[in-house]
Amino acid sequence: MCGITAFSGKGPALPFLMQGLSKLEYRGYDSAGVTTIENSGLKTVKCKGRLAQLETKLEDYHLEGHVGIGHTRWATHGIPSHLNSHPHTNGDETISLVHNGIIENYKELKDELLEHGYHFHSETDSEVVVLLLDYYYQGDMLEATRKVIERIEGSYALCIITTHEPDQIIVVKKDSPLIIGKCDGAYVAASDIPALLEYTKDVYFLDDYEIAVLKTDSITFLNKNFRTIKKELVTVPYDLEAAKKDGYDTFMLKEIFEQPHVIQETLRGRIQDETIKLDELDNIDFKQFNKVHFVACGTAYHASLCGAHILEHLIKVPVFKDVASEYRYNDPVIDEKTLCIFVSQSGETADTLAALRLAKSKGATTIAVANVLGSTISRDADYVLYTCAGPEIAVASTKAYTTQLVLLILFAYYVAQQFGHVDLKAIHELKDLPNLVQKILGDIDSFEQFASLLEHQRDAYFIGRGLDYTSVLEGALKLKEVSYIHADAYVAGELKHGPIALIEEGSIVIAVATQPHIAAKTMSNIQETIARGAEVILITNSLNPPIDARYTYVLPYVSPILQTILVAIPLQLMAYFAANIKGCDVDKPRNLAKSVTVE
Ligand code: AGP
Ligand code: GLU
Repeated sequence: MCGITAFSGKGPALPFLMQGLSKLEYRGYDSAGVTTIENSGLKTVKCKGRLAQLETKLEDYHLEGHVGIGHTRWATHGIPSHLNSHPHTNGDETISLVHNGIIENYKELKDELLEHGYHFHSETDSEVVVLLLDYYYQGDMLEATRKVIERIEGSYALCIITTHEPDQIIVVKKDSPLIIGKCDGAYVAASDIPALLEYTKDVYFLDDYEIAVLKTDSITFLNKNFRTIKKELVTVPYDLEAAKKDGYDTFMLKEIFEQPHVIQETLRGRIQDETIKLDELDNIDFKQFNKVHFVACGTAYHASLCGAHILEHLIKVPVFKDVASEYRYNDPVIDEKTLCIFVSQSGETADTLAALRLAKSKGATTIAVANVLGSTISRDADYVLYTCAGPEIAVASTKAYTTQLVLLILFAYYVAQQFGHVDLKAIHELKDLPNLVQKILGDIDSFEQFASLLEHQRDAYFIGRGLDYTSVLEGALKLKEVSYIHADAYVAGELKHGPIALIEEGSIVIAVATQPHIAAKTMSNIQETIARGAEVILITNSLNPPIDARYTYVLPYVSPILQTILVAIPLQLMAYFAANIKGCDVDKPRNLAKSVTVE
């Protein structure tokens, strides 16, 4: 997610804007900028890159205005660049705006504004909003804002300033975070509490569809009908470090709990009238391919396995999957009839990038599934689909994984649509995923209890079949990554061919059985481990599993392919709590890097 700051007060705005953006750097960004209202009018200074570069650029300006807005951008529409960075202004530079979120219907609005003779300077969705404000402004910026809010769809935290009404900032919130602070001689706003703490701990939490008008010594709150409302002033108990984690103990836990929101953001605009919409891929004829390759590393590879399984079953075309470090050296069979999918959260993983370049050199059509706009892999691929997980700070991937699963499932159904296959049930269930994930997160205490079984364990055995096997591969990786417990995943049906020799009295087996056509087989395999003394933690969607497990968690029952997303939550939280019990550094596990940019 990006960072927003805004200041309306007795002193200069710039110091608050910049200190606030610096406190939000941890959220990840690719460009930054500010606008202040000076005597000469709006002054906007922005650039691609780090805040330090913006600070250097600002040395050439003397911004002393008492009203201003700032932004660090996490690009979703339009690669990181000077022109795409925020703030965005209208043509005569009388209105400036910063935006956090996604304007879903920006294309139709952009077309409408172009027809009205407007010119765009950026590729972003956000620029549509400031030009719409220009279009609707007829002497009252709040009224213009009301009209714009009626037109835009999606997620947005907006801060709007204008030379027409130079003593105020209009703030609007829907689905993206925005907090208001009350200071001595100023009102401020920011995406997150850390940005405010040097100035105040007295804050107002805006709810969705609420508007605020900040002036130097007054603030007005309005509801979605633009009626004045009262908001409670709250004193936050956080210190700076805690605030960066939004009150969570670690980034990993914060990111696990962000999953309902980021799954919603990844779905946003991609299911319309029961049809999957991936405009980025509209000019690909998928019937031209006679094979599909999925290539990735680590967690992204596990997400790829799920995507590959679903696609192959939907379109009945052979799908091959491999880890990039093998693929790049195995001389894979690639030609013009090959479609290659590369999944990478960072978009910078060396092995995946090398594999991508190999595939391109052999004539394949390449699609990247990435989380970082403008990353190398996203730029090198012929096409790119972006997850909207926002920056993932913890080394252990959680929200990136579930949003990869969501996007790969959308992709599979998008391709299947070209083959005449539509599964309306799964599409309806996709829409409900955020709610289902939120519900499972509510059982966090259960997963902490399950994890207590691992406290004194050196080993843990994950078992599953089919898509459950891809889930336990990821569950085992999560556990070993953060707790250093030796965790391996086995195809449940393979236990009897060797691995079951490892099971002894007190062994911990974490079993997943959610796939109806093979769950009974998995239950038998689980029973075989119990017969040899294993303690079983069972994650299933069967209400009365015929298993005497030590712990059982029953997931909501959804289409088999969507179970992989729900299964991830208990496994992530068990890994998290197991690491906590052992006192491990959950966010920065030993020996690991967030992005492996070397071979
Ligand atoms: C996952 O928890 C790990 N951090 C690691 O396996 C990671 O998934 C892998 O390095 C791939 O990274 P990428 O998605 O950025 O390419
Ligand atoms: N969607 C907007 C853009 O891509 C805002 C991104 C953000 O939240 O930083 O510029």
